[in-house]
Amino acid sequence: MEKVTMNGASGGAYQEAWRRSISSPDDFWLDAAAGIDWITPPSKALDADGPVTGSWFPGGTLNTSYNALDRHVLAGRGSHTALIYDSAMTGTRIRLSYLDLLGRVAKFAGALRANGVGTGDRVIIYLPMIPEAVIAMLACARIGAVHSVVFGGFAATELAVRIDDARPSVIVTASGGLEPGRVVEYLPLVEKALALSQGSVHTVIARSRESIPGSAADYQDRSGTTVHWLDWADEEAKAAPADPIALRSDDPLYILYTSGTTGKPKGIIRDNGGHAVALNWSMRNVYNVGPGDVFWAASDVGWVVGHSYIVYAPLLAGATTVIYEGKPIGTPNAGAFWRVVDDYKVKVLFTAPTAIRAIRRVDPDLLELKNHDVSSLTSLFLAGERLDPETFHWANDGLHCPVVDHWWQTETGWAICANLLGIEELPTKPGSATVPVPGYDIAILDSKGKPIDKVGKDGNIAIRLPLPPGTLLGVWGSAERFASSYLTAFPGYYATGDSGHFDADGYLFVMGRTDDVINVAGHRLSTGSLEEVLTLHPAVAECAVLGVHDQLKGQRAAGFVTLKAGSTIDHGVLAAELVALVREHVGPVAAFRDVTILDRLPKTRSGKILRKTIRQIVDGEEYSVPPTIEDPTVLDDLKRALSASVS
Ligand code: COA
Ligand code: AMP
Repeated sequence: MEKVTMNGASGGAYQEAWRRSISSPDDFWLDAAAGIDWITPPSKALDADGPVTGSWFPGGTLNTSYNALDRHVLAGRGSHTALIYDSAMTGTRIRLSYLDLLGRVAKFAGALRANGVGTGDRVIIYLPMIPEAVIAMLACARIGAVHSVVFGGFAATELAVRIDDARPSVIVTASGGLEPGRVVEYLPLVEKALALSQGSVHTVIARSRESIPGSAADYQDRSGTTVHWLDWADEEAKAAPADPIALRSDDPLYILYTSGTTGKPKGIIRDNGGHAVALNWSMRNVYNVGPGDVFWAASDVGWVVGHSYIVYAPLLAGATTVIYEGKPIGTPNAGAFWRVVDDYKVKVLFTAPTAIRAIRRVDPDLLELKNHDVSSLTSLFLAGERLDPETFHWANDGLHCPVVDHWWQTETGWAICANLLGIEELPTKPGSATVPVPGYDIAILDSKGKPIDKVGKDGNIAIRLPLPPGTLLGVWGSAERFASSYLTAFPGYYATGDSGHFDADGYLFVMGRTDDVINVAGHRLSTGSLEEVLTLHPAVAECAVLGVHDQLKGQRAAGFVTLKAGSTIDHGVLAAELVALVREHVGPVAAFRDVTILDRLPKTRSGKILRKTIRQIVDGEEYSVPPTIEDPTVLDDLKRALSASVS
């Protein structure tokens, strides 16, 4: 196979850009770096002596918050809208201009500093989809504090794990978030997480929200607390605005935890310089968005999509970002997305395929679309999980604008493969994330690391080092874990953990993970961490958790357990207790509901659980009985148990 040198499908501007990014990375990325305001401009792009994944723009100093806010105000664009907040849950709509947002960020940065937060200190941000989430992130960036945002759907235990790993001095939170039919009170979760963790936190700053009970004062007054609980509004009001400080290009901007193969999440570290350059470049070249355009990433600030494309990239580019608190359906109907596009004249919408499948399920004929004018929409970008061809066709036929599947990961922070609408729109192929983005040199490797030179043959997708700017600098606190997770499997490459193939036109098809990571509604989960939780139950002897096919969410977690000898627990009771245990330890986001209780798990003679075979049986796929199976009759027991749980 001609490897990723692209091909007859294009031959134009895209191919030219990709080739230049690989053959002259220094020139390519220094050009891109000119889109950022540096305090000390870098004299070269790649530091060959830096960390192996690539250390970008050595010698350069900058401030990301300045680039996202101040420079637009100084350029006379202070009155332009930076952020639109639309809560379908409360009906609130707020517009903040660049000047407004700068004012609030500078004040909150001052409040953090007044509470002892210095450069390099970590701040955990545990906030729902409200403007304060964006403000808190940019305030940290302004003073060089390293934020770590934790998604609201995680339980207190998961928050505690992140506190213990990042060791923040301050947590920024709110009284709560709003889910359909349910208020999620954050303050009790924070209190519980603090009790479970090792005590690095000295201050909690909490934003009170109307109609959600709980305030900092309620917790400050509790006897025995060693943590200061402060009210956000008070702290912001009395703070002196903080100026942006100069940071080295490779100073950390944030840590974002993501699921790996073990129960312990990995803290992905992002830098300042490479990140600002790559994201700013991506807005024009991938999404074709510039100053004044309205860009809406319907995700959550707790995920990488939210970090990159709700907060940083649109603001770096001087565009308008939308922060939407609501769902694609039910808040109040399946026209919610089209209503937001219409109300704010959104140019580009970015969401997960699950959201589109949810809309399709409720409104298969797109009747709601007729109630709104979505002519402002020039493209729909999807990521987070594979875009199945059926959903692609449905959206493509209904929306009359390009529907672009693009592939990326928390680790990369921006797209690895995409159809780069700002450079050259290539023909779309359903099921493919199109072509490698400039800067990414992709290879398909066999299990020994040898390139697979056959078109259409699946293998491990790997990226030749160095990675482009904007990708991970490392794993927080563990150079060893960074290396063992990504770099040692295929020396000279970054192992993505995904499998797939190229076709003859150089289009990449990402088919699935090669590890125990699963993707539920675009949310990344580790089956290993779910298994750890199931084994906490005193009746459980052994268990396996697998990602099985789900019509709506792409995948869902299904648990298979065996009981300890002598256990007499009722199976229905056990299943309910296991579901509750996962909700308590991991959180509602795991959406764990499927439990199958077996006498024995299918295993090989050497004791390895036959996960693939179990998954194939659950998904109704063809399978062959592995020759190494300990006892083939266990598979019949499994099928019986599955049909019993269906009926
Ligand atoms: N805080 C607290 N709980 C949350 C939460 C948050 N921020 N986000 C989700 N949850 C809860 C939900 O309320 C639900 O709880 P429940 O079991 O009590 O009903 C549970 O976590 C599972 O949520 P989810 O998987 O989102 O399912 P859902 O049925 O609520 O919604 C969709 C289904 C398809 C509408 C929804 O998954 C969706 O919009 N997906 C888009 C995916 C996305 O944005 N991915 C981000 C990457 S781009
Ligand atoms: P996350 O780190 O949560 O963004 O999840 C990254 C993982 O989601 C990837 O490694 C893939 O397994 C999957 N993924 C994301 N986008 C796509 C896509 N467009 N096509 C296929 N898989 C995807």
